[in-house]
Amino acid sequence: MLFNMKQLLNKAAEGSWAVGSFSVANLEMVLGIIKAAEETNSPIILQIAEVRLKQSPLEIFGPLMVAAAKNSKVPVAVHFDHGKTLEKIKLALDLGFTSVMYDGSHLTLDENICMTNKTVELAKQYGAAVEAEIGCVGGSEDGSEDIAINCTSPADAVRFCKETDVDALVIAIGNAHGNYKETPHLRFDILNEVKNSVHLPLVLHGGTGILPEEFIKCRENGIKKINIATATFDSVEASARNAYNNSQIKGYYDLHSAEIEGAYLNAMKHIEIFDCSDKAELFNNGGNKNELL
Ligand code: 13P
Repeated sequence: MLFNMKQLLNKAAEGSWAVGSFSVANLEMVLGIIKAAEETNSPIILQIAEVRLKQSPLEIFGPLMVAAAKNSKVPVAVHFDHGKTLEKIKLALDLGFTSVMYDGSHLTLDENICMTNKTVELAKQYGAAVEAEIGCVGGSEDGSEDIAINCTSPADAVRFCKETDVDALVIAIGNAHGNYKETPHLRFDILNEVKNSVHLPLVLHGGTGILPEEFIKCRENGIKKINIATATFDSVEASARNAYNNSQIKGYYDLHSAEIEGAYLNAMKHIEIFDCSDKAELFNNGGNKNELL
């Protein structure tokens, strides 16, 4: 069932669970993640970032993601992650994505507000939700840059939310994309300050490598969407490599199964930590992407 991300996050905000937002790059990842979501009866988000479109072109892969969501037994939102250009954001919306992120983390606050408002204006025409970032999550989506972490200023977050109409806000609290060089410890002081002054579902990027106990503290304190990318890619690659090492791969379809298994196992692990098992039952009215917008 295709859902609007706003519906999923607002429902999660009524409890202490969070929705896993899994980056995908191929059919096997989509199948493995949906299998985990269906087995655990969990709502879930499938996402792809603009920097990944060179490997998985949006015109081809986007419709696959939307079709997988529509065919799923559980609520699935389809999200365009780290949108950098209005052109690609519009393409994702045209293809039926139910939410988009505009990433203005590299801009000044004024510029970020201005571009985010353009994104909101566009997304509203499609009944889609908008996520934006304030401060700067470290690293980069595809590992091509090692951008420094710039923790969110709670005062900037307040101004940003007053001057834009976003549905979810990404904050930087010591987290970074990609594998961490050392175990990260998140700034819960900043999280709490933002949570107490901004009444929006908050989003944690850079989920790979965060300690389970810190994930739990996050979901209990306003983080309602958690992005996982590198852990999925690593799990898929490791699953294929192990299958080769154990001589389990005799042909292409054994590789296909090993990749699905890698994505499935990683999603199962995170679904448990995010406590979203059985939460699909909370949405038994069915999906309607325009319902809340
Ligand atoms: P990781 O690659 O660190 O899991 O980050 C995912 C992410 O935040 C995607 O936007």
